[in-house]
Amino acid sequence: MTRTADEIKGAVKEFYGERATKAAACCGTTDYRDKLYLVDDVADLPETVTSYGCGNPTAIAGLREGETVLDLGSGPGLDCFLSAKAVGATGRVIGLDMTQEMLDLANANRDKLGLTNVEFRKGEMESMPIDESTVDVIISNCVINLSPDKDAVFRESHRVLKPGGRFHVSDVVLSRELSDTEKDDLALWAGCASGALLESDYIARLQAAGFGEVRVDSRGKIGEKPWYSATLSAFNGDAPKASCC
Ligand SMILES: C[S@@+](CC[C@H](N)C(=O)[O-])C[C@H]1O[C@@H](n2cnc3c(N)ncnc32)[C@H](O)[C@@H]1O
Repeated sequence: MTRTADEIKGAVKEFYGERATKAAACCGTTDYRDKLYLVDDVADLPETVTSYGCGNPTAIAGLREGETVLDLGSGPGLDCFLSAKAVGATGRVIGLDMTQEMLDLANANRDKLGLTNVEFRKGEMESMPIDESTVDVIISNCVINLSPDKDAVFRESHRVLKPGGRFHVSDVVLSRELSDTEKDDLALWAGCASGALLESDYIARLQAAGFGEVRVDSRGKIGEKPWYSATLSAFNGDAPKASCC
């Protein structure tokens, strides 16, 4: 791969900045939202709460009242708004995103919904503007593949999680290594493929960053493309034991 981190981040910001501007103006699509989420869960959300995700991390996060949730690459805010409902008035949700247009869209969406327990923060997930050991649950939807430095994202995730904290993400992963041409294609980077990792690499890097148990919860349809979506969980310490009967 010959692309620099600045080139990749520039292409990603431009791509999602344009989408946010379109969604705010009139022409976003709720296609992904309708495919990825239960109809009842998103029925009350304005059409400007679009989704650019590849899964639904809130479905597996097991959020509880009072928890603090951090969404990496929060985009228009959909997963933050679902999380806000789950953690209630005593909990709070921080959406982190590096693209100003997405933050503007997310803030406008939050104001339309009148939510007071959601905050959107500008920043990069490789150096999070978040204090150490302050987050109960990290979620993220189709974002970590976009980072040119995943090890930094995983180290930072481990740093900000409280002991016992959980990491639940949907992301694109690879079924085979990509060619150099595919890895250098900036449109494919912004489209969530060029930067994707093999599942085994994803798991090994999370463990190297200090996570205890790491698991793949589900896999999307594996088709002709050498990538697919997966939902992964990792724990700062041991995974919570399933409560029985
Ligand atoms: C594919 S969209 C997903 C948005 C949202 N999670 C969703 O499901 O609709 C990727 C988002 O991540 C943000 N992003 C990409 N790389 C980032 C980084 N290194 N740090 C912070 N935000 C980033 C982009 O600005 C964009 O809003």
